[in-house]
Amino acid sequence: MVATLLTEKIPPPLIGKISPPGDKSISHRALFFAALSEGKTEIRGLSSSEDVMSTVNNLRKLGVKVIFYENRVEVFGLGGQIYDLGPKCLDAGNSGTTFRFFMGFLARYPSLVTLIGDKSLSQRSMAPTAQALSQFGIKFTLNNRKYPPVSFTGNQCLEGRKVEVTHFSAQLKSALIFAALQSQGKTEIFGKIETRDHTERMLPLFGGKIEARPSSIIVEGNQKLSGKFIEIPGDVSSAAYWVGAAILIPGSKIVIQSVCLNPKRIGYLEVLKRMGANVEWSIEQDEWEPLGTIRCEYSPLLNGTHIDANEISSLIDELPILSLIGTQAVGGLSVDGAHALRNKETDRIKALEENFKILSVPFFSTEGSFKVAGKVNLRGGVTDSFGDHRIAMTFYIASLLSSNEIKVLNTSCIAVSYPEFFQHYRELVV
Ligand code: S3P
Repeated sequence: MVATLLTEKIPPPLIGKISPPGDKSISHRALFFAALSEGKTEIRGLSSSEDVMSTVNNLRKLGVKVIFYENRVEVFGLGGQIYDLGPKCLDAGNSGTTFRFFMGFLARYPSLVTLIGDKSLSQRSMAPTAQALSQFGIKFTLNNRKYPPVSFTGNQCLEGRKVEVTHFSAQLKSALIFAALQSQGKTEIFGKIETRDHTERMLPLFGGKIEARPSSIIVEGNQKLSGKFIEIPGDVSSAAYWVGAAILIPGSKIVIQSVCLNPKRIGYLEVLKRMGANVEWSIEQDEWEPLGTIRCEYSPLLNGTHIDANEISSLIDELPILSLIGTQAVGGLSVDGAHALRNKETDRIKALEENFKILSVPFFSTEGSFKVAGKVNLRGGVTDSFGDHRIAMTFYIASLLSSNEIKVLNTSCIAVSYPEFFQHYRELVV
């Protein structure tokens, strides 16, 4: 599939209001907690992304009943009893979250589990998650000691313990929490835990207990969770593309409603503000996740900035679109500590480098750092998503900005996180 080309000299502004689809990270977690719980969970606003559907399909293979209605989803949980259905092969497709979450969720599964993924996922390292979970006495076999397929048999005598994590990530942390919840006794997880905290926030909704300290998390084992009503807030990472486009396209002014404004997810908005962008956000409801509105408009004067390693986790998924915004700012954008981008749906630093080269944007990178030049006129050319949804959406936005023709090859992967992307563009474009 090839993205639509815009050949107008002046790009049409984006005007209006949208509510982004349900947050993908929160949707995965709602399904896993619902599956672990006793009784029925009703979910409203579940993301319809391909990644979240991978989680649904695999939960169904384990006997979890998931029923879709027009505006809600019902999940009938297993009540902490994941039944032995014999050896299972689960396919996580393109979804790293699905893959890693199942590694922890099935920590007690008594038969052989084999987790597989698509070509992109098969090139992503699962070693840190396997290493962390192996501290629960589970032996994982990985392809070349790193990659999917990953196979293991769970440990039926899981015991709570102290777990040290060196390569922290939000997915890994959640996998450990799913395993800890099914263990006997207390688990204490140590490491740099400042990644997104949706799992910690959601567990109490299902009646569970968790203690999050600055450098550790404590989870009691054998907790009894019960099904709940849950409404998923809008995805700030999906909204990010329209915020970026509105800031860059003259005459634009948009409002994004019902969006999750979790402080660990809004590093992008904070960086844009620092760059001088006209962007404001306000929290209207703050129960288990802060929910609110983002307002933004065309911002003719953007300053470049530097993103430091300690900011990365709050904007990890927004680095591609931020780099594009950097190309229009005085002084460009430099980023440190972004090694994790090398292990996403594609090597995102390499993908940015290759696409920016085509658009004649100077770009320099080392293993975990990069710098993109500012105030550059994007030249026309054929860019590629490299099968990565966030790269596809970033360069689609680039195609809206340039008076030269920019093509993006392989945009169908956008459905991995944001199937409504093109429809929302049509709703916003004047
Ligand atoms: C996610 C965590 C982040 C993020 C990913 C979703 C999650 O990855 O990039 O898109 O839902 O927990 P890490 O696990 O590498 O932090």
